Amino acid sequence: GFESTAMPQSILITGGAGYVGSHTAAAIIEKQSDVEIVVVDNLHNAYRADGQKKPEPIRIIEEMTGKEIYFYDLDIRNAKALSRVFENHDIDCVIHFAALKAVGESVDKPLEYYQANISGTCTLFEVMRKYEVYKLVYSSSCTVYGEPEKLPINEGHPTGKGLTSPYGKSKFFCEEIMKDLCTSDKKWMVISLRYFNPVGAHKSGRIGEDPSGIPNNLMPFIAQVAVGRLNELMVFGNDYPTIDGTGVRDYIHVQDLAEGHLKAVKLFQQPGFSGFHAVNLGTGTGYSVLQMVSAFEKASGRKVPYKIVGRRAGDIAANYADVSLSQRLLGWRAIRTLDDMCADTWRWQSNNPNGFKKS
Ligand code: NAD
Ligand code: WQD
Repeated sequence: GFESTAMPQSILITGGAGYVGSHTAAAIIEKQSDVEIVVVDNLHNAYRADGQKKPEPIRIIEEMTGKEIYFYDLDIRNAKALSRVFENHDIDCVIHFAALKAVGESVDKPLEYYQANISGTCTLFEVMRKYEVYKLVYSSSCTVYGEPEKLPINEGHPTGKGLTSPYGKSKFFCEEIMKDLCTSDKKWMVISLRYFNPVGAHKSGRIGEDPSGIPNNLMPFIAQVAVGRLNELMVFGNDYPTIDGTGVRDYIHVQDLAEGHLKAVKLFQQPGFSGFHAVNLGTGTGYSVLQMVSAFEKASGRKVPYKIVGRRAGDIAANYADVSLSQRLLGWRAIRTLDDMCADTWRWQSNNPNGFKKS
C-alpha cells in the first residue's frame, strides 16, 4: 500500500561530503526531492573552499538541485555534537559513510583507523539509540571476504578470514557489532552494503572522486595520468592467473551505488523488515587493469602510459560479486557500463584537473 512505499522525511548522511556520500546525497535529492538531507562530516577527506560554510560537493549539489542540504562540521566521535543534530532534525534513518579508507595507511596507523571507524561507529550507534533511530545503512566492503574461496562471491562467503589490513578488519568488526546490536534489540534494522570497486562520477562532471595526494586506487590514478597530472601508471603485477595476468575487479559506477542506497532506505518501510542484512553492491563482472586502461583511453581519447611493476602487498588476483541478492532483496542492479564509468570519470577529471581545489 501507500504506507509501504512512503519515504522517510529526514535522512542523516555521515561522511556525506566524501566521494560515495556526496553522490548518494545527490541521487536521493534527484530521485526523491521531498526528503530532507542532513550531512555531518569532519572534512578529514573533503574540501571546503575559503569563505564557504559548506564543503564543495555539498555546495555544488545545492546549486545543481536548488535544494538545501543541512551541513554540520563535526566528528562522529563527538557524541555531544552529534546529539545536537538529532535534536535539530527529526532523523528517520542514517546512512553511515564516515570512515578512514586508505588500506595501506591503515597498516601504519591502526589506532587512528580503529578510533575513527570503530569508536566513531559505536558513538554514532549510541546516539542513534538515545534518539530511538534504529534504521541504518552501513558502508561495508568486499574486503570483508578476504581472499575469495570461489567466484563470484555471494554474501554467504565467510568473512573476516585472513584480513591483512586494519582498514579491512574495521569493516568486518563493525559488521559483527551491528549483528550483535540486531540480536540484542529487534528494533534495529541494518543493511550493510558491501561495495565492490566504486568508480565514476556524477553525470554533470561537477562532483567526483577527489583523492588527496597520489591516488591509492586504480581509476583515479588512470584519470590523473590521462589528464597529465601524473606521468605513468604502475601496473601492480602481470603474473596473476587472470585473462591478461593483471588483477581483476568488479568496478561499479558510483551513481548505481548511490541508487542502491536509496533502495536500501526504501526497504526499511517494508512491513516486518528487521535485523541485519549484508548485501553486495557490484555489477557481477570483472575487468583487468589493462582492460581498464584501454577502456579509459577509448573514453578520453588520451594515451595512458603504463609500466608493469611488482605485485602490491595484500592484493588478490580476482574479485567480483554475485549480485543475485541485491536484485532479490533491494530490487536493484547496476545498469551503467564500463564505458559510462570511464566517460563520467573523464568528464569530471578533465573539467576539474585539480579536483575541487580550482588551483
Ligand atoms: P571518502 O573519504 O571520500 O568519504 C568519507 C567521508 O567521511 C569524508 O568526507 C571524511 O571527511 C569523512 N570522515 C572521516 N572520518 C570522519 C569522522 N570521524 N567524523 C566525521 N566525518 C568523517 O570515502 P568514500 O570513498 O566516499 O567511502 C565512503 C565509505 O564507503 C567509507 O566508509 C568507506 O570505507 C566505504 N567504502 C569505500 C570504498 C571505495 O573504494 N571508495 C569501497 C568500499 C567501502
Ligand atoms: C584495483 C586493481 C591493483 C592502483 C580497494 C580496497 C577495497 C575497497 C576498494 C574500500 C588491483 C591495481 C591499482 C595502481 C594498479 N575499498 N592497481 N596500479 O585494491 O581492489 O580495492 O578499494 O573498502 O577494500 O582494497 O582497488 O583500485 O586499489 O586496485 O595496478 O596504481 O588495480 O593491483 O588489481 P582494490 P584498487
